[in-house]
Amino acid sequence: MRIWLNGELRDADAAKVSVLDHGLTVGDGLFETLKAKDGSVFALTRHLDRLTRSARGLGLPDPDHDEVRRACAAVLEANPMPLGRLRITYTGGESPLGSERGKTGPTLVVAVGETTRRPDTTAVITVPWVRNERSPLTGLKTTSYAENVVALARANAAGASESLFANTVGQLCEGTGSNVFVVLDGELHTPPLASGCLAGITRALVVEWTGAKETDLPFDVLDRADEVFLTSTLRDVQAVHSVDGRLVTTAPGPVTAKAMRIFDERAGSDLDP
Ligand SMILES: Cc1ncc(COP(=O)(O)O)c(C=O)c1O
Repeated sequence: MRIWLNGELRDADAAKVSVLDHGLTVGDGLFETLKAKDGSVFALTRHLDRLTRSARGLGLPDPDHDEVRRACAAVLEANPMPLGRLRITYTGGESPLGSERGKTGPTLVVAVGETTRRPDTTAVITVPWVRNERSPLTGLKTTSYAENVVALARANAAGASESLFANTVGQLCEGTGSNVFVVLDGELHTPPLASGCLAGITRALVVEWTGAKETDLPFDVLDRADEVFLTSTLRDVQAVHSVDGRLVTTAPGPVTAKAMRIFDERAGSDLDP
C-alpha cells in the first residue's frame, strides 16, 4: 500500500505523522471519503469544494486542490483495485498539547482501501443521542467523529448497518455516515441542511436528480414512512428494510427503486457531476 503524505507518495509503514498532530490529539481535522471505481474517482470536484468549505469552517488554510488531485491520482495509480474507498485527511498539523493550533501548517494524507459494493437493502436503528444543529462544527466533515463510532457500534451490535439521529429539537437529521430520505404519500423528502445534517454529496445529487423535497420532519416520521432510504458515497442509494427491527413495507419500494435507478444512470454517465 502506498500513501500520500505531505507532498509525496510513501510506503504505508513509512507514512507517519507526529504524535503531536492536532488531528490525533484533539480531532482538529477534516476528511473526505470518495468512491473510486477501477481507478476513477466519482464527484471529485464536489468533494474538493466541500473539503475547502470544511477547512474554512475550522479556520484551516484552503487545501491546494491541484495538490489533492495529484495526490488522489498518484494513490490510485499506485494501488489498483476494482472498488476503493479513497480517503483525504487534512488536519491542523503538529501543535501544542492543548486546543490551540500550532504553526507548522496542515497535514495532508490521501490513502485508499479496498471495499465491496454494499447490499441493496439494510437495517437501521434509531439512537437516543442527538445531532447539534447549532454546533460550530455543524455541516463540517471533521475528524471529530467519535460520536459516530459509538452510534455505529450500537447499530452493528443490533445487526443493523446504520444509526439515525434526531437533532436537538426532535427532527429527523441523518445517520452516522449517511443522509436519510423518506417517502410519504408517494413523495420523497429529506431533512434540510438546517437540521444539522452534513451536506452529503449523494444527497445533493439525489435531490437534484429526483426533485426530492427538503422538509422539516419529526423523528417519528420513521414510524409511518412508506419507504426509507440512505444515501452516501459508498452506499449510493440504499433501501432500508427495517427500522429498530420493524419492517418497512417492501424494500426497495417503488420510489426508492426509481431513485436507485436514476442515480445509477446519471452517476454512470457523468463521473464528475
Ligand atoms: C455524518 C455524515 N452524513 C452524511 C454523509 C453522506 O455524505 P456523502 O454522500 O457526501 O458521502 C456522510 C459521509 O460519510 C457523513 O459522514
